[in-house]
Amino acid sequence: MHAVRITAPGGPDVLTWSEVDDPEPGEGEVVIDVVAAGVNRADLLQRAGFYPPPPGASPYPGMECSGRIAAVGPGVAGWHVGDEVCALLAGGGYATKVAATASACLPVPSGVDLIDAAGLPEVACTVWSNVFTLGRLQSLDVLLVHGGGSGIGTFAIQLGAAHGARVITTARPAKHGILHDLGADVTIDYSTEDFSAAVRTATSNHGADVILDIMGASYLERNVNTLATGGRLVIIGLQGGQGAELNLGTLLTKRASIIATTLRSRPLAEKAAIVSAVREHVWPLIEAGAVRPVVHDRIPMPEAARAHRLVDTSDHIGKVLLLTP
Ligand SMILES: NC(=O)c1ccc[n+]([C@@H]2O[C@H](COP(=O)([O-])OP(=O)(O)OC[C@H]3O[C@@H](n4cnc5c(N)ncnc54)[C@H](OP(=O)(O)O)[C@@H]3O)[C@@H](O)[C@H]2O)c1
Repeated sequence: MHAVRITAPGGPDVLTWSEVDDPEPGEGEVVIDVVAAGVNRADLLQRAGFYPPPPGASPYPGMECSGRIAAVGPGVAGWHVGDEVCALLAGGGYATKVAATASACLPVPSGVDLIDAAGLPEVACTVWSNVFTLGRLQSLDVLLVHGGGSGIGTFAIQLGAAHGARVITTARPAKHGILHDLGADVTIDYSTEDFSAAVRTATSNHGADVILDIMGASYLERNVNTLATGGRLVIIGLQGGQGAELNLGTLLTKRASIIATTLRSRPLAEKAAIVSAVREHVWPLIEAGAVRPVVHDRIPMPEAARAHRLVDTSDHIGKVLLLTP
């Protein structure tokens, strides 16, 4: 088979389309003939040497894919050779074949193209587990989504709106129109506006009940100031750094909480529970057309370097997908 190898930590050009050994399905695994893989920002960090795959994971990048099951390992029930699936992976999606944990596979939602399904597992599992399970978003809550134009953001806006939340998002102005179309009530240009003041104005000083944050340190203080009483700040990205000071008094007075998680390193059983909840709660919304995959570009997998350059610019809206030849 072929895979995108990271020949050495570095820029996009270290991604090399190479012939490598085929994977074998282990206990509880299936092998998927990959049709497409989603590009995630974490893949760029892995390529640069800052985000090693968890122990036992494939050395090739790629945390999600879609395709057809080519082989079924021992102890797998419910999946058969030929089934069309998409899967959450610990790694290895940038390849023509990948071994996936059977409990991390999902059927392709009806009405969704097999290629586009490649961009669903990571965003659906991340948004469901963080905004709904940990963040406990309720209908009529105010949800602030930072980076609304990202793969994660475009999905969080839609899922929040589909649950009757009032969605506010930060993004560069060129993306605002599409984010409104996806269900955002208010869009904020984070480069010229104080997002905290803008949220307070838009909510008559109520603030945000749930914040999905991808910036970390640089937004911590303003995020806490933006929370409503009893609000939940869920940090899933550290694009603005890891270390920051915080006045705990503000958190105390608001009876608010801060949660930080990463999906990739969770134990298999937790990932399986998230995948199962996504299948139950999110897949029907996709099949009903209330939430859709937002795909910016489909790029041949051997040109993974071009895809990484695009994601690096953040000019994309939604997902960039890699297609196997
Ligand atoms: N913890 C987890 O389990 C988990 C799982 C998946 C993803 N993530 C994280 O979620 C984030 C999004 O992932 P992705 O793959 O969807 O990324 P992506 O598509 O590459 O998007 C990154 C986004 O960051 C936005 N951004 C940059 N500076 C910003 C700022 N100051 N304020 C607001 N937004 C800003 C960009 O928006 P503009 O173009 O508008 O600047 C861009 O849309 C990443 O940080 C990723 O690491 C975490």
